[in-house]
Amino acid sequence: MSNNRLVVFDTTLRDGEQSPGAAMTKDEKLRIARQLERLKVDVIEAGFAAASPGDAEAIHAIASAVRESTICSLARTGERDIRAAGEAIKPAARGRIHTFIATSPIHMEKKLRMKPDDVVEAAIAGVKMARQYTDDVEFSAEDAVRSETDFLVRIFDAVIKAGATTINVPDTVGYAIPANWGDRMRELIERVANSDKVIWSTHCHNDLGMAVANSLAAVQAGARQVECTINGLGERAGNASLEEIVMAVKTRGDIFGLETGIDTSQIVATSKLVSTITGYPVQPNKAIVGANAFAHESGIHQDGVLKHRETYEIMRPEDVGWATNRLTLGKLSGRNAFRTRLQELGIVVESEEQLNHAFARFKALADKKSEIFDEDLQALMSDENLEIDLEYYKLVSARFHSETGETPSAALTLSVGGEERKIESSGSGPVDAAFRAIESIAQSGSELLLYSVNAITTGTDAQGEVTVRLGREGRVVNGQGADTDIIVASAKAYLNALNKLHAGTTKLNPQVETV
Ligand code: KIV
Ligand code: ZN
Repeated sequence: MSNNRLVVFDTTLRDGEQSPGAAMTKDEKLRIARQLERLKVDVIEAGFAAASPGDAEAIHAIASAVRESTICSLARTGERDIRAAGEAIKPAARGRIHTFIATSPIHMEKKLRMKPDDVVEAAIAGVKMARQYTDDVEFSAEDAVRSETDFLVRIFDAVIKAGATTINVPDTVGYAIPANWGDRMRELIERVANSDKVIWSTHCHNDLGMAVANSLAAVQAGARQVECTINGLGERAGNASLEEIVMAVKTRGDIFGLETGIDTSQIVATSKLVSTITGYPVQPNKAIVGANAFAHESGIHQDGVLKHRETYEIMRPEDVGWATNRLTLGKLSGRNAFRTRLQELGIVVESEEQLNHAFARFKALADKKSEIFDEDLQALMSDENLEIDLEYYKLVSARFHSETGETPSAALTLSVGGEERKIESSGSGPVDAAFRAIESIAQSGSELLLYSVNAITTGTDAQGEVTVRLGREGRVVNGQGADTDIIVASAKAYLNALNKLHAGTTKLNPQVETV
């Protein structure tokens, strides 16, 4: 790989999933992995195989389905973890094991309770064992930011000798400051033996809001892999955001002189998919993918942009996949136009049956909403995948009543395991009434942890996209629903979450103790 190529390592499905409440099912992970492949990320860290059987299964499924990106599993340096990772990535066209151990005095002494010499031995053993499964082995020194540089040099020397091909230097706790982090990376690259035989990587957390700045400083100092997540999702304040790093490197090519393999036109679609599935909304003023990232409010700015776009725009919205509210299809559009537009949007339809089902729902939506935008199709297809996958509880019909001075009520007909059930309930509002009605049938015993509504496009006829997060006995699931009627969207989202609880496909939250 040439020295001006920056490897993009996405860890949305591993570190991103460590955000509270962001646990994903295997099918959701597969959908995100397919989208990451379309985005053309170099490496997808698909999970931590030893964390749970569900994680191992998801990595295996992704390794079987994705051909263009390298599929990676995280592993501690112990035999059980490496074996689990090695088995999980087996079907991959290109598989990587990412093994790590903590190297800071505080972690070695207080958490691992290991002597530095033993940590070095464990790292060597882990890397050697990982090499028996794949020749693509990454080693990370957890909490490198608070580790002694001499010790890092020693352990990196040793793991390179043992066969590591990528050396990752993580700021696990988000403690680094850009100039300093760059100096640190430069010193390591200079002092470690055979440093030119490996790819140097950085992995930054955002506790002080500097994950992207630190990652870019490391890149300027010689790192040629960045570890990041979509929307900056991740443990605590999150990880470095993929879209911000990629667009900084692209937009400031004059400074970085580097290329990534990313298809930037897929950025917004990926951001929306991750946000919908995890229930983590994107703040409107978030760089690149926030709804206002390209909106000009001040008259002076609007005037400037109309006269010459580059007066106030350093990137073009279409370069990152903002469809600029493109009107795509309408009531009279046929099945072929529908299929073609889905293909253009990179949405995969698994079968003719799914296409027919989705087309019928598109027609129903077009009856309610005169203009159908790309965003509507994306939401419709997300909803479609959810319906096809899990249908134990299904909304058949709904009637809501809400009037000033009256108690709101909901009358629902649900299909429960194929049997129709009717139920009525009242509540503090129609959404509350709908949720109570559903619960009086499902008796799930779950707790509502999050309820959020977003308008997919502008206008009062826009579809509402609802996320409902439910928790039960340590299990957390996110349900989604979209409809032009936000109460119907809410009921669908609640049922979708219940279906996930019913299917029991998510693992317990959170992951194993040491990451
Ligand atoms: O933050 C961290 O140190 C990690 C490692 C496992 C790379 O996520
Ligand atoms: Zn991390």
